Amino acid sequence: MKKFTLVSLLLFVSFITINAQATFIQNIKARNIQNLDGRWHYIVDPYETGFVGFLGKKADENGLSGFFENKQQESKSELVEYDFSKSPTLNVPGDWNSQDERLLFYEGTVWYQHDFDVQIKPGKRYFLNFGAVNYEAYVSVNGKKAGTHKGGFTPFEFEVTNLLHNGNNSIVIKVNDTRKKENVPTTNFDWWNYGGITRDVVLAEMSQNFIRDYKIQLAKNDLKTIKGYLQLDQPQVEQVSVNIPEAGLQMKLTTDAAGKASFTLPVKKLNYWTPEHPRLYDVSINTSTDSVHDQIGFRTIEVRGKDILLNGKPVFLRGISLHEENPMIPGRPRSKSDLRMLLQWAKELNCNFVRLAHYPYNEYMSHLADEMGLLLWEEVPVYWTIDWENPATYEVAGQQLTELITRDKNRASVIIWSVGNETPINDAREKFMEGLANHAHTMDSTRLVSAALLVFNKDSTTIELNDKLGNSLDVVSFNEYYGWYGGGLPREIGKFHFQIDFNKPVIISELGAGALGGFHADADTRFSEEYQEAFYQNQIKLVSTIDNLRGMTPWILVDFRSPKRMNPTYQNYWNRKGLITETGKKKKAFFVLKAFYDEKEKQYK
Ligand code: GCU
Repeated sequence: MKKFTLVSLLLFVSFITINAQATFIQNIKARNIQNLDGRWHYIVDPYETGFVGFLGKKADENGLSGFFENKQQESKSELVEYDFSKSPTLNVPGDWNSQDERLLFYEGTVWYQHDFDVQIKPGKRYFLNFGAVNYEAYVSVNGKKAGTHKGGFTPFEFEVTNLLHNGNNSIVIKVNDTRKKENVPTTNFDWWNYGGITRDVVLAEMSQNFIRDYKIQLAKNDLKTIKGYLQLDQPQVEQVSVNIPEAGLQMKLTTDAAGKASFTLPVKKLNYWTPEHPRLYDVSINTSTDSVHDQIGFRTIEVRGKDILLNGKPVFLRGISLHEENPMIPGRPRSKSDLRMLLQWAKELNCNFVRLAHYPYNEYMSHLADEMGLLLWEEVPVYWTIDWENPATYEVAGQQLTELITRDKNRASVIIWSVGNETPINDAREKFMEGLANHAHTMDSTRLVSAALLVFNKDSTTIELNDKLGNSLDVVSFNEYYGWYGGGLPREIGKFHFQIDFNKPVIISELGAGALGGFHADADTRFSEEYQEAFYQNQIKLVSTIDNLRGMTPWILVDFRSPKRMNPTYQNYWNRKGLITETGKKKKAFFVLKAFYDEKEKQYK
């Protein structure tokens, strides 16, 4: 593999702009869709026998036969060494690790196959949309390649109008979740590498020219103007109407020759969206051949000096970090109610903010947060030791950010785009992440950009944040574990103070300690609930000394699976820093943090 140098990366980052176009239709779930979820056949193929010939040639590039053909034996003497129709099935959506115990630790290739019926209507176009497939997907329909996608947490889509038959159709997907240096995330991370088709698969039936994309939000820092645009799929001049009836707003406009129309709407009367009052408005966009409905909340979010302002008022972000995992399975959430359970727990902690660590979550999550009244931090998995000097890595990181922002840009709950977590301070990394931060600002000027940074000991009692990347961020956030990963015992961390060289709002994006639920001992005993409780009591005192502290998302709401946690007594492949156990039981520290948030809520009333 060609050795990339810092120079090649600097060249790349400075001259190459990240692709700002995503492949998928905005708000696909509100379109005319056929849901393809259900039981899909699967074949575990650790050696990629279904794709690579014995001499290493890739089947689809060399006209060789591969499992994507979904071949059936037609004569008794014909040799076919696989048969999807007789193979076992898995739930889609769902990860394979939690559905077949042989696959708990499995990383590699699994083939999926599913039959579905379509009544093709003349003049209609058909799009196959995936909420997410971890990590690499090779999709074929009726034996023909539809497309490929890299990245395990964002949507992608292919037009399959020319691949479909009337009646029965077959889809075959090769999924590979092997961890690779050049991937995002890379090879080392502290969560379970759940593989598979982890979110919904739908087939959308669209008119020839349809509303492909739109954004409707309040203008930047302006409570009096709704600003937006819409983009048709085809470059065509068309009459369009935008309606927000409950706000008494209607507008007729005409797209330009590129099929795009931008607009501003002066606000008459709006109930601005807040966590306490998550008011959503019915919004519809109509053309002569297409219409789409959405439920949108209107709020502004900005920084002013050390403050974060929501609708112009200072806010304290009473938060918690999450992983996208239903601990009861344990596995990737398989339904809205799985996601709602996680947000409901955050509400019980009196949170108004949630950090969706470390990768984009199911689209439903931001819709639920809009509805339930929770502000969101959304992140791309630029995590730990990414291959900073590799332009292909930069490209896939940028693509994931584009896909995340494109998908969730109409969600009032989303206030912060995070471009990464705990990344080492060096020039290549700085260029890489500055490039991502600039891209986020370019794609969406109405939200804040941040990242979870690292702090270091300046001396025996000074915790210093002086990461230059902070200059490219609106909010400086950092992770610190004094009282767990160093700094002595919880009762000893009072000796520390912070030195933060930024006149910006600060969010503590992680602090936390492990505790095995139900294990009780004195506060100096690791993994006891009392140790975790003391950790939170002392940490809350410590971080409250930070003058520009405007939020925190402790690590973490609920225990989660990790192949990096192997202590057989306390962990057993669980990261135990949850405030809630995997069975849903609240630990002592849960109530320490809740009491602190009850206080903060009063303070910011
Ligand atoms: C890190 C990291 C998390 C990890 C946590 C931990 O800060 O960001 O992903 O799980 O620490 O060590 O528990």
